[in-house]
Amino acid sequence: MTRHFIDLTDAGPDAIAAMLNDAMARKTARAGWPKGKPDADAPLAGHTLAMIFEKNSTRTRVSFDMAIRQLGGTSIVMDAGSMQLGRGESIADTARVLSGYVDAIMIRTDDHQKVIDMAKYASVPVINGLTDASHPCQIMADLLTILESGKALPGLKVAWLGDGNNVLASIMEAGGLMQFDVVAACPQGYQPSDADVARGRGRARVVGTAREAVEGADIIVTDTWISMGQAHAETKLKAMMPFQVDEALMAAAKPDARFLHCLPAHRGEEVTDAVIDGPQSLIWPEAENRLHAQKSVLRWCFGQL
Ligand code: CP
Repeated sequence: MTRHFIDLTDAGPDAIAAMLNDAMARKTARAGWPKGKPDADAPLAGHTLAMIFEKNSTRTRVSFDMAIRQLGGTSIVMDAGSMQLGRGESIADTARVLSGYVDAIMIRTDDHQKVIDMAKYASVPVINGLTDASHPCQIMADLLTILESGKALPGLKVAWLGDGNNVLASIMEAGGLMQFDVVAACPQGYQPSDADVARGRGRARVVGTAREAVEGADIIVTDTWISMGQAHAETKLKAMMPFQVDEALMAAAKPDARFLHCLPAHRGEEVTDAVIDGPQSLIWPEAENRLHAQKSVLRWCFGQL
């Protein structure tokens, strides 16, 4: 059966653990190598990944491109607006056609249903590169970064400061699968749906104050409150500001707590410079780990893990 990576549940806890172990081992094995040099075993030699972007990206685009190259394969990167897909060709037809040319398809779109439809009609693995509903590849990198910091996943308290968005939905899903608690502090009107909280399988909850979320937390996470390039939504920003991650809030977490942000960031809004550039921040390894985690996602999709 073709393996699609649309949400973390598609893989499940055992496969996620295997991917994280593989990512750490492969990252260690090629430390210091030029970025474009393939891994010694080049396990996806001859494979091609097509990437479709309906939305802007820096990290997802470049990290997937380098991931397939380091695994010995190649990529084709397309903006949906320059494809017939962007001019009315159906997802079903696009999926069937691309399946004849490439070995896997990654798509970033504002419409989660498009990824589901792509997987329905493609005969090759389909990977979710972010939708309005979830961002599983980002969370694989976050989990890898947490493990690298020396923390085990089961029993962790992860605090989320922000609105109920796609990234939070995948963190809650990860908590349910990997046995850690997710406490989200969200203002009224910006809370996650009940369905997203249910992804946490009883380990996710929503609270009303930032302080309640971070007390005793091991990991503090936030995300941009206003999408990059959008005119600032002043009403939303005003509601969100009490949830800004600053040094005082970090001090309320465990002393060895770490800070994550998937980037891009609006410094001075969701997080202060002192925190994002401070000693507890793991944002640069988190960003790099997109590359390492996605190599393992690709290997899992091809049945190698
Ligand atoms: N975090 C993330 O998905 O970054 P990009 O939007 O740059 O891909």
